[in-house]
Amino acid sequence: MLAIIGGSGLTQLSTLEITHREVVRTPYGEPSGALTFGELSCTPVVFLARHGYGHTIPPHQVNYRANLWALKQVKASAVVSVASVGGIRTDFAPGTLVIPHQIIDYTWGRKSTFFEGAEESVRHIDFTEPYDAKLRQRLLAAAAAAGEHVFDGGVYAATQGPRLETAAEINRLERDGADLVGMTGMPEAALARELELPYAALSVVANYAAGRSASEHAIQFDSIELVLQEAMIRVRCVLEHLCKA
Ligand code: HPA
Repeated sequence: MLAIIGGSGLTQLSTLEITHREVVRTPYGEPSGALTFGELSCTPVVFLARHGYGHTIPPHQVNYRANLWALKQVKASAVVSVASVGGIRTDFAPGTLVIPHQIIDYTWGRKSTFFEGAEESVRHIDFTEPYDAKLRQRLLAAAAAAGEHVFDGGVYAATQGPRLETAAEINRLERDGADLVGMTGMPEAALARELELPYAALSVVANYAAGRSASEHAIQFDSIELVLQEAMIRVRCVLEHLCKA
């Protein structure tokens, strides 16, 4: 069973034929909401809205551990994360879909491991390639089958939020080698690896990152919503093809 974690712009999967919902409790507290079970292209899927179904949980307060633990507990075999991002690279214009291949983590103060506490011994996971190669390839193939252009690869910078970045911070991220910036990619990806859940991301560029738009000096929030609405139609189409394959 595939798990889909939906971010801003994807709090529901309208094409999912819902069978039931389940509230899962975990040793790490409550997930962002009840898990929604159903079928997408006749394939079993479990969906979770990362920010809650009413979009009330900010990125730094998402209980990433509970979310991943709950998905593992209901026997999800892989996790696709859908999340909106800012485009740093000039060809990552609003509306672009990207399947990133690397991460730089700038977040702080988030619960970012299951391996702590009195009963858990310390473990260091390999994270050289933060995304699952096979799942990335499946996503790329699904996009091709859906006729949607997606960029294969990009370095994802995970920032703390909830505020957006300054122009100077974006310049720094670019010097570090980042191509796109979002607030929820970490510790989600690392926690999935700790649970040995194959994990890949489908990033949706909502806006040019701070200071990168040729015409605007500030990020325009009303246009973000429109961009995401349109892009999520394409994202749903890619996800349907992923389930069909
Ligand atoms: N920065 C960080 N996270 C984001 C952005 C951004 O510009 N756009 C959407 N998520």
